[in-house]
Amino acid sequence: MGKIPVPQAASKQARDLENNGLVTSKEAVERGYVSDKILPPEPEKCKFCGQTLYYEGLVINGSVLIWMTQPERCRCKKAVEYWKKYDKEQEEKKAAEEKAKKQAEMNARIQRLIGKSGIKKRFMNRTFDNFIVNETNREAFEIAKRYADEFPKFAAEGKGLYFEGTFGTGKTHLAVAIALQLMNCNIPVICKTSIDLLNDIKRTFDSDYGSSEHQVLQVYKDVDLLIIDDLGKEMATEWSLATLYDILNDRYETMRPTIITTNYNDEALVARLTPRGFDNTNMGALMSRLKGTSAVVTMAWEDYRSGGY
Ligand SMILES: Nc1ncnc2c1ncn2[C@@H]1O[C@H](COP(=O)(O)OP(=O)(O)O)[C@@H](O)[C@H]1O
Ligand SMILES: [Mg+2]
Ligand SMILES: [Zn+2]
Repeated sequence: MGKIPVPQAASKQARDLENNGLVTSKEAVERGYVSDKILPPEPEKCKFCGQTLYYEGLVINGSVLIWMTQPERCRCKKAVEYWKKYDKEQEEKKAAEEKAKKQAEMNARIQRLIGKSGIKKRFMNRTFDNFIVNETNREAFEIAKRYADEFPKFAAEGKGLYFEGTFGTGKTHLAVAIALQLMNCNIPVICKTSIDLLNDIKRTFDSDYGSSEHQVLQVYKDVDLLIIDDLGKEMATEWSLATLYDILNDRYETMRPTIITTNYNDEALVARLTPRGFDNTNMGALMSRLKGTSAVVTMAWEDYRSGGY
């Protein structure tokens, strides 16, 4: 095997162009690249070690046409640390901006396809603040509050919540409180009863309805958090079963979180979701997978409105 040939010293200009055509203002002066119309900025000193830091300029056809907006980066230890932190912060800032942009796009999509996120006027005041906490409901309250406070973490893990229990115990109140808190932070949330959710999709069957069934279905699949209130209250049909299965299964598979509230226990719920005479195995398995990725909150006590408080 012969030796790898050592390249001849390249001409200065060729070397600069290999270097993306960048030279420091010092090199540019030495090599006569500086056009007197486009003078380089004065060099600066590293604030850590005092080394002179030149601005770099882009050489095209033998003269610098543009100077960078910041001087070259010093390579001293402190400067390297500083720039590492700086770059990381810039990256985080960019990621946060991108996230905010995506959220705004999703919120616009929800608005366009199904109108406001679904919380009816009557529910707009169901917040954590006006949920009266007592010994019976404290755990439920705390799980819900923590879910809202730490939503990004739970969402990243695809974790949801499953509120089951008797009528009037505050399941809807807590689910809506989560939705309102997240929506205040611009996080895209749809919060609807299963009846309204299915009706929204049905409306698209009207030929003159603006958006297609597919688009509306997709927004339920994509939204950052879907809250289905009162699952099992709808009238089960072959279509409702297939539609709910499609949405819930898709969200499960893509690890998007879902919150469910229901008055039914497992067996009764699966029976409620399945029309008479249809096989309920798939839905049963899906519901148990969903519960498996959720914190299950059982709220079975006296109806709040009956005055037991
Ligand atoms: N701990 C509570 N503090 C304040 N209001 C409550 C509380 N629990 C329930 N409520 C109110 O009682 C009513 C019934 O609660 P809701 O959340 O609709 O019950 P569920 O969905 O469990 O049937 C709602 O008006 C709700 O705001
Ligand atoms: Mg309810
Ligand atoms: Zn330095």
